[in-house]
Amino acid sequence: MGEQAKISVGGMVTDNAVLKGSVGPDVIDIRKLYAQTKMFTFDPGFTSTASCESALTYIDGEEGVLLHRGYPIGQLAENSSFMEVSYLLLNGELPTAEKLDNFTYTISRHTMLHEQLMQFYRGFRRDAHPMAIMCGVVGALSAFYHDSTDISDPQHRKISSHRLIAKMPTIAAAAYKYSIGQPFVSPDNSLSYTGNFMRMTFGVAAEPYELHPAVEQAMDRIFILHADHEQNASTSTVRLAGSSGANPFACIAAGIACLWGPAHGGANEAALNMLREIGTPDKIPHFIERAKDKNDPFRLMGFGHRVYKNYDPRATVMQSTVREVFDALKVDDPLFETAMRLEELALSDDYFIEKKLFPNVDFYSGIILSAIGFPTTMFTVLFALARTVGWVAQWNEMISDPGQKIGRPRQLYTGPTQRDYSPIGNR
Ligand code: ACO
Repeated sequence: MGEQAKISVGGMVTDNAVLKGSVGPDVIDIRKLYAQTKMFTFDPGFTSTASCESALTYIDGEEGVLLHRGYPIGQLAENSSFMEVSYLLLNGELPTAEKLDNFTYTISRHTMLHEQLMQFYRGFRRDAHPMAIMCGVVGALSAFYHDSTDISDPQHRKISSHRLIAKMPTIAAAAYKYSIGQPFVSPDNSLSYTGNFMRMTFGVAAEPYELHPAVEQAMDRIFILHADHEQNASTSTVRLAGSSGANPFACIAAGIACLWGPAHGGANEAALNMLREIGTPDKIPHFIERAKDKNDPFRLMGFGHRVYKNYDPRATVMQSTVREVFDALKVDDPLFETAMRLEELALSDDYFIEKKLFPNVDFYSGIILSAIGFPTTMFTVLFALARTVGWVAQWNEMISDPGQKIGRPRQLYTGPTQRDYSPIGNR
């Protein structure tokens, strides 16, 4: 028998197996705890709970480490491409040149949307938030692709995963085009995944579209940085939705809904809005004081993370990418100066030091995306586009697990105990 953890409650001692991963903290297996003790554990924000086994992504928050299938995010961001990272996440190994070509080709065969799905957009108001459109249109995919929704068939799962990864840029670009009143641009499969997305977003039929290679590379890198992040809120949402047997398109729509919130994917939009509100470096101390004030709801957006208690390794790459994009586009944004000064002041402030609050991936991403030309409302959409590969990889991993069960947390009930209904006239 391996290592056991004893839990002593109500005069009873239970032996619980200590499970070991390949790296990272051990976990105490409490699956039999309720049967043995008639007690649940209580962990509302899952701060001490591992919800599943996974071989995709590893994070060491104390050390600021992020690995995809064992490869450090910094190495992937520097040397890889979003298509290659997608292959890696889905298949577990880096592809050979031939396998990568085949995968990229397969994805490119699914970039178009059913014409009737394009009609969907017209039902939205022009001023709809593009994340609202994403939730609706991605959910609607399930009404179009009945031939790939048998989740017990690995081939169906593969096709629907490819469809989701391939169609997301088309759906996202169309959400943008709709909001600015321009005609949709069809995919061009001769371009890279990212180049095609940029053309569908910023290209117009009236003139040829030219994309600076450095910007294409920066955008591709941003997608790599967002590809997966283990059991975060939206991924857990996808897994929970998928655990009931729901089809993958519906599950990813659920993930998009969760990602939208300002504490999660919406933080990149909120971070840039905050930097704009701060404006110049002389205003920073005032906002730092507000962030520290418990009576003020203001928080430094793009700062702090549930898992990272050190610099988010994605923020390091993001910060260095800002300069590359500025140089390529020959632009500058004084907000970058403000952001760097804010980081410097916050990181030397006792409040942020003691609480281990560091810049996260969202702190600098808004500055880059804004320089490239995206409105803030599109930031979370870009996140959703890139995270789709992580979501489908995690969903596939869950469905392929023979021990998979429906996710069904329990609760600590604090409502009224049983009482009798009283007729309305007696109340
Ligand atoms: N500014 C000021 N104070 C903060 C911040 C912040 N950005 N983040 C956390 N704190 C404080 C909290 O007030 C709390 O203080 P207390 O212990 O005195 O009550 C303490 O630090 C711990 O914070 P929690 O909110 O309990 O930590 P949690 O792990 O639940 O939250 C979260 C993490 C949601 C990311 C939080 O840091 C936050 O709101 N940050 C701003 C939003 C943000 O940037 N989100 C992006 C996350 S990354 C991503 O989704 C890609």
